[in-house]
Amino acid sequence: MKAGFIQFTPELCNVDATMTRLDKLFKEAPEADLLVLPELCNSGYNFPTRKDAWGASEEISDSRFVTFLTEKCRERKMHVVSGFCERDGFKLFNSSILVGPNGFIGKYRKIHLFYNEKDIFSAGDAGLPVFTTPIGNIGMLVCFDWMFPEVWRILALKGADVICHTSALVLPGFAQRSVPVHALINHVYVITANRTGTEHGLTFTGMSTVANPKGEVVYQAAAASDEVSAFNFDLELVRNKFITPRNHIFEDRRPEAYEELLHL
Ligand code: ACM
Repeated sequence: MKAGFIQFTPELCNVDATMTRLDKLFKEAPEADLLVLPELCNSGYNFPTRKDAWGASEEISDSRFVTFLTEKCRERKMHVVSGFCERDGFKLFNSSILVGPNGFIGKYRKIHLFYNEKDIFSAGDAGLPVFTTPIGNIGMLVCFDWMFPEVWRILALKGADVICHTSALVLPGFAQRSVPVHALINHVYVITANRTGTEHGLTFTGMSTVANPKGEVVYQAAAASDEVSAFNFDLELVRNKFITPRNHIFEDRRPEAYEELLHL
C-alpha cells in the first residue's frame, strides 16, 4: 500500500473554497492508494457558535464534499479518509469518513471531544469500526482521541493495518510525539493528517506525521505549509505481531489482569 496525507488549511464555513484548494493539492499529489485529510475538512474547525457549525455540516447521504471526494477517488483509483462535520437529525458529529472509487464506505464519530467541541458536537456513538478494503484494513480516529490508548488498541486488535488520524491539533507537538508510540505498541501504521492555519485566534500545529509499526517516524511535515506526501507501507510487516519469536503482542496480553480498568 502507498499511503500518506494532505496537510493544508480548510476554509472555515466555506466548502467551495476548501474544495478548490483540495482540487489543486490532489493534482499535485503523488500516486497513492490512500490519502488522509484533516479533521472537519468540509467545514473548518473553530466555529464561533454551534449555529455556524450547523450551517457548515452535511448529511453523509446528501453531501457535496462526499461527491467531490468520490470523484477524486474514481479519477485516481484511490481511497480517502477525511474529517467530516456530520449532521444526523438534530445532532452534529465530528466524524471521519472513508471514501473509495465507488463512494462512501464507512464512518467513525469522534469519541473524545476536545474543549469547545463539547458545546457543538455529540460524542461518538458509532463504535470503533475497522473497514476491510482492497488496499488493506482501515481504522479511523480523530485528533484528541490520541490521548486515549484504549481506542488505538481496540482498532489494532480488530485488525487495522493503518490507523488514519484526521486532526486539527493545537497543543504544542504532544500528539505528534505520541503517535509513533501508539504505532509501536500496537504494531500498526499511523497517519496523522493535521491542518495548518489560524481560525479566530486558534493556530493549528501542522507537522502531520507518518509512523511505522517499529515506532519510527517515516515522515513529519513542516508546521505551517501545505504538503502532500505518500510512502510505501509493508502489510506483511504490520500483520506479523511477533516482536520476538516468543512474544506475540496480542497473544501475550492478559485481559483478565486489566478488568479493573472498567471500574476505575
Ligand atoms: C482536537 O481534538 N481537535 C485538538
